[in-house]
Amino acid sequence: MKIAVLPGDGIGTEIVAEAVKVLSVLDLPFEMESALVGGAAFEAHGHPLPESTLNLAKAADAILFGAVGDWKYDTLDRPLRPEQAILGLRKNLGLFANFRPAICYEQLVGASSLKPEIISGLDILIIRELTGDIYFGQPRGRRVATDGHFPGAEEAFDTMRYSRPEIERIAHVAFQAARKRSKKVTSVDKANVLETFQFWKDVVTEVHAEYPDVELEHMYVDTAAMQLVRAPKKFDVVVTGNMFGDILSDEASMLTGSIGMLPSASLNAKNQGLYEPSHGSAPDIAGQGIANPLATILSAAMMLRFSLNQPQAADRIESAVQDVLASGLRTVDIWSEGTTKVGTREMGDAVVVAITKTITKG
Ligand code: IPM
Ligand code: MG
Repeated sequence: MKIAVLPGDGIGTEIVAEAVKVLSVLDLPFEMESALVGGAAFEAHGHPLPESTLNLAKAADAILFGAVGDWKYDTLDRPLRPEQAILGLRKNLGLFANFRPAICYEQLVGASSLKPEIISGLDILIIRELTGDIYFGQPRGRRVATDGHFPGAEEAFDTMRYSRPEIERIAHVAFQAARKRSKKVTSVDKANVLETFQFWKDVVTEVHAEYPDVELEHMYVDTAAMQLVRAPKKFDVVVTGNMFGDILSDEASMLTGSIGMLPSASLNAKNQGLYEPSHGSAPDIAGQGIANPLATILSAAMMLRFSLNQPQAADRIESAVQDVLASGLRTVDIWSEGTTKVGTREMGDAVVVAITKTITKG
């Protein structure tokens, strides 16, 4: 089993180190190889996704990814910015299905800004289409307007588009995921305004005919944003496009107390996957040893389950994380009165100890 380890920038290196530590105690036959990505790769090789890094990723069964980006690169030409590395990996590997679970751990109910009764027991799964939509649609660019409200003025434009096969395959992913959960899918669109999302809605409805055992509901994205904070437990599987999924998954993360807890998986048709925390590189706290490594550690668990076919090892990591939370250890983002504040490394060490205990228990 080959794992490409791409820590990236900011807190990426700190949190990925903890996940690697956790993977290493499992005593499984992994081959892990690291490479630079994002700003770090730009500094060293002049490109955020060097050929060598892309090749390593392509040859791996799974990619463990940290985070990329720093404000200091904001003035670079777009193709050289760190974010292009993650977009390039998604595109080159065809990682079209992005799983972003939002689970509220009972011990962290108090860390959310929402009332406990709204979020206690929350367990939803956002499935975001990841290689289409306005993120990748051509044409895009800047030009002088020849029509519109201000002909002759400078303007910028992007293209929102989805093809039938792109919608069909993500709809299948969502319905199949729902079959393993509570058999309900909410498809989020903006069919009342956008042609692209009327088509989305139509195609999802057609695919649904193959899944009569799964309930399908359609919701406009603005309503979904509202319902996510009003009554999030009414959702189970949410499927949506790239752009709406980007926004709604950040919103959903805050239901759980901290974005520092949320793992994610991005899969292609061959089940090759990229696993990364849902949060970013947080340059403001980088190097301080205070970042929460749990989202990355939980991403490693998703990697074991989805791409490496090691569900028991995945369970072991997930229950170790539960044990550590139950023991009261908290990084600063999830800390509350009466719990013990720890740093990135101590948190990783505690997960390792919890895993070792379950291994000795058999
Ligand atoms: C995410 C991030 C990325 C996105 C950025 C870093 C390109 O926000 O994974 O949600 O917009 O998809
Ligand atoms: Mg995002």
